[in-house]
Amino acid sequence: MKAIAWTKYGTPDVLQLKDFDKPSPKDNEVIIKIHASSITAGDCRLRALKVPMGFWLLTRLAFGLIKPRRPIIGMELSGEIESLGKDVTLFKKGDEVYGTTGIRLGANAEYICLSENSALVKKPNDISHDQAVAVIFGGLTAIHFLRDKANIKGTQKILINGASGAVGTASIQLAKYFGLEVTGVCSTSNVGLVKSLGAKDVIDYTKEDFTKNKKNYDVILDAVGNVSLSQCKKLLTNKGKLISINANLLTNLLSIFQKNMICGVADESKDNLNFLRERVEAGDIEAVIDRVYSLRETAEAHRYVDKGHKKGSVVISMENKEK
Ligand SMILES: NC(=O)c1ccc[n+]([C@@H]2O[C@H](COP(=O)([O-])OP(=O)(O)OC[C@H]3O[C@@H](n4cnc5c(N)ncnc54)[C@H](OP(=O)(O)O)[C@@H]3O)[C@@H](O)[C@H]2O)c1
Repeated sequence: MKAIAWTKYGTPDVLQLKDFDKPSPKDNEVIIKIHASSITAGDCRLRALKVPMGFWLLTRLAFGLIKPRRPIIGMELSGEIESLGKDVTLFKKGDEVYGTTGIRLGANAEYICLSENSALVKKPNDISHDQAVAVIFGGLTAIHFLRDKANIKGTQKILINGASGAVGTASIQLAKYFGLEVTGVCSTSNVGLVKSLGAKDVIDYTKEDFTKNKKNYDVILDAVGNVSLSQCKKLLTNKGKLISINANLLTNLLSIFQKNMICGVADESKDNLNFLRERVEAGDIEAVIDRVYSLRETAEAHRYVDKGHKKGSVVISMENKEK
């Protein structure tokens, strides 16, 4: 099978399309024919080891001290179960599934074997594999931080900094689903997109510094990493919270003792994937796809995502073979 080999940390040039042996499922595993995977900001940070300050050693310990431990890169996938190990009960041959491999990686490939207990569930109906894979990274992050950590609910006001990225576009839609009034922060060219997803107000960061405005928010989600709690404090209501998903290790540790600060890493579970599927099927969350590349073009996709200006998600489509 074809897959994207990842043998060292560095620029997108370290990624190469190579032939690998097609894997065989163990007794508790399924083999998935992957139709689509994605290239996220997380993939790019990992590839280049450009992680928030303090996480450098932890990331190397998790993914390989000198060089990547896993031979194939990529986390999110949408595809079809081709066959199963003898103990598998949760899936059957032909099931269309979507999910994430987490730190096991290996999703930028034609096939992958995963335990039936991994973060893998039936894919949302009536959308393509490209659309299904595009909602996973931002959707799971939004569910974890907004629903589970900030406990958002109707009548609250939320400001989303970085509203046009994968996390931002999913967060606007999830916050709208829970009834919140959303303000999005993005650049001029993304104002229309952010409004169309449900933001009531939009602040164009090229013209206005949102930390200087006089409004109050119950939640501020910083998906960019360019503001601190002290800058946001005057914008937060009494019980308001700043969610910082790009914080350095020290800020993460301090947040344990701060009532108005939420940091950490998004949880990737079957429950959250199922909740995301329900939201997609109900039309509450839709995929925002910026560009679609072929597997062969993965390094090029990484170069694009590295620029930090994608709108929503970048997808690797297995159907795009000849591009
Ligand atoms: N802690 C966790 O568990 C967790 C989970 C998921 C993601 N993350 C991290 O969160 C970050 C965001 O992820 P993502 O997938 O949303 O990234 P992304 O899709 O690459 O974000 C790109 C978007 O950010 C916008 N942007 C850039 N600079 C901005 C600024 N100064 N103000 C407002 N918007 C700006 C860009 O819009 P313009 O083109 O208009 O500039 C672009 O649309 C990444 O660093 C990722 O690693 C953390």
